[in-house]
Parts: sequence; C-alpha cells; structure tokens
Amino acid sequence: MKVLIGTRNPHKLEEIRRILGDIPGIEWLTFREHPFPEVEETGTTLEENARLKAVSTAQATGLPTLAEDSGLEVAALGGAPGVLSSRFAGVEKDYRANNEKLLELLSGEENRRARFRAVAALALPDGRSWLTEGILEGEIATSPRGAHGFGYDPLFIPVGETRTLAELSPEEKDRISHRRRALERLRPLLSSLARGEL
Ligand code: IMP
Repeated sequence: MKVLIGTRNPHKLEEIRRILGDIPGIEWLTFREHPFPEVEETGTTLEENARLKAVSTAQATGLPTLAEDSGLEVAALGGAPGVLSSRFAGVEKDYRANNEKLLELLSGEENRRARFRAVAALALPDGRSWLTEGILEGEIATSPRGAHGFGYDPLFIPVGETRTLAELSPEEKDRISHRRRALERLRPLLSSLARGEL
C-alpha cells in the first residue's frame, strides 16, 4: 500500500521515516516521488492544520496521506507560539530568529516550563481522517546548545534530562519525542490500512 507523507519539511520527513518506516506492507512516498500542491496552513489549531494538510493532499493525489502539525507551547507565554511556531519571529522557518525571540521574551522569567505538541493525521482519498496527539514536557534553556535536530531543539530540555533535544542523538530524540508519540498512535491504523481493512 502506497502512503504519501504530506510534508516538505526535510527534518520531519526524516523523523517520520525513522519512526514508521518499518510497518509491513506500507511503501512510503514523499513529494519527491509524487509531487503534490502545497497546502496553506490556514487553521487556528494544530488539529485543524494537520487535518487540512492530510485531507487536501489525499484528495489532490488520490493516495492515503499522513500529515503532521506541531508546535512549542510555553507556559509563561500563555501557550505561544503554538500553531505559529514556525513563523514566530515573522519569517517562515527562520529557526535562529525564532529562538532569539523566545529567549528575549523569557529573559528574567523563572517559569520556563514548556511542551512540544504534535498532531498527526491520516486521511484517505474518500475523505475519512483520523487524528492522534503526542506531547513532550520540558523547559526552555537560557541559551541554545547542541547541533542535532531542528527548530527549537537547541532550547528545549525534556523533563528528566539535563541536555537539550539538540544535544541528544536522533535515536534518543525519537525515543521520547512528541512526534514519536503521535505517530506511534497511528501505527495500528496504518497496519489495518496495509492489510486492506480500512
Ligand atoms: P509546522 O511545519 O507548521 O508543523 O511547524 C512546526 C514548527 O514547530 C517547526 O517549524 C518548529 O519551529 C517547531 N517544532 C515542531 N516540532 C519540533 C521539534 O521536534 N523540534 C524543534 N522544533 C519543533
């Protein structure tokens, strides 16, 4: 069964393939093998955007599609940047500017609690869709550390860790990440899809 990964973000693509690449009977396709139109993220929640990306890409391509939307929710900022995480400092995916803005807003702030939240969506060309969620709790460091990962990884210290996510190896990040938790919850559905049971 061919399933399309509905993202152009190379870091997410890699993580999704590492986490779900082993499901028997699923052949993962990306925009490289099967180009699809870009979907504008007009939703106001991670749930809306994940569903929007999965459903519209499945309908445009005729292929079952897995999509994901994720964000960082900082307690002292009332849950921001949340759904706006990738354009927090104004420019889409300017990770360094986003991290600098976050550090500035939290300067002098003692409550550094934050969480990553990922919402994964699986959609079929007939319009049916399913959503799952994964959360990783942690706190925001006072300066960036580490070279792995992407986005806010250099500033995020998972609960129970002293290192940031960017200091963990990719395998260590995968074991605990919000994305891993959301994607694993889709695994039974993907296995059913591969067996022709959906
Ligand atoms: P999306 O492409 O709109 O889902 O953007 C999600 C944004 O949230 C990314 O651009 C990052 O800024 C942030 N983000 C989501 N997941 C992660 C992660 O695993 N590490 C670091 N930043 C993340």
